[in-house]
Amino acid sequence: MRKYFIAGNWKMHKTVSEATALATELVAELKGGPNKYMIAPTFTSLDAVSKIVKGTNILLGAQNMSTDEQGAHTGEVSPLQLKDLGVQVVILGHSERRHTYKEDDTMINKKVKLALSHGFEVILCVGELLEEREAGKAEAVCEEQTRKGLAGVSADELKKVTIAYEPVWAIGTGKTATPEDADAIHAFIRKVITSMYSASAAEQMIIQYGGSMNAGNAEALLAKENIDGGLIGGAALKAETFKPIALCK
Ligand code: PGA
Repeated sequence: MRKYFIAGNWKMHKTVSEATALATELVAELKGGPNKYMIAPTFTSLDAVSKIVKGTNILLGAQNMSTDEQGAHTGEVSPLQLKDLGVQVVILGHSERRHTYKEDDTMINKKVKLALSHGFEVILCVGELLEEREAGKAEAVCEEQTRKGLAGVSADELKKVTIAYEPVWAIGTGKTATPEDADAIHAFIRKVITSMYSASAAEQMIIQYGGSMNAGNAEALLAKENIDGGLIGGAALKAETFKPIALCK
């Protein structure tokens, strides 16, 4: 049985004091909870939130990471700096990075390999645009992003990778994929992992759903065989909206 992995992506929200307050609430509310948890505040709040979640059942995530360890990379944050702050998980290839900031599969793959080489867990996000779905290309897009994102990742390293299927048209829009549609893509991604690695690697792979997941739809999504958790944006910004998802069994 795969354990659910429920992760909050706070995106570009919250000052340090707001982030500290939410993290403190979540530590209390999720103590002893049944699932694996992560919260990813903005870079500016990582240090403060790190001190709060340290030693709890909530992992500390970063929302992105540089392709390089150090050097002339204005505005970037290196794996060494994230490690220094106690970050354990890095979200890579989020659709906002792909589409707004033009990160391509080659760059994302470089980040994935660098993060794994530094011992981080990685959440690799994949997902199609609305026009790609309407053109019947959802599977092809997810396959390409999965294959290219994981190129050169060993079977052993893969154990530290979670895939988040996030249909771009469902992110922050209030539109969710139906549990059936989401499950079909998750099953398809599992097949891609089987062909890249092995059936047992695919069986163990945690595949999160992301895109307007909330307290009202989480249970139905998580009930599906291939949906193993959630990467949650909007509903992760308050303890009262994150907790019902986080406590799903
Ligand atoms: P959302 O964001 O839950 O606000 O749709 C999900 C994500 O982008 O990770």
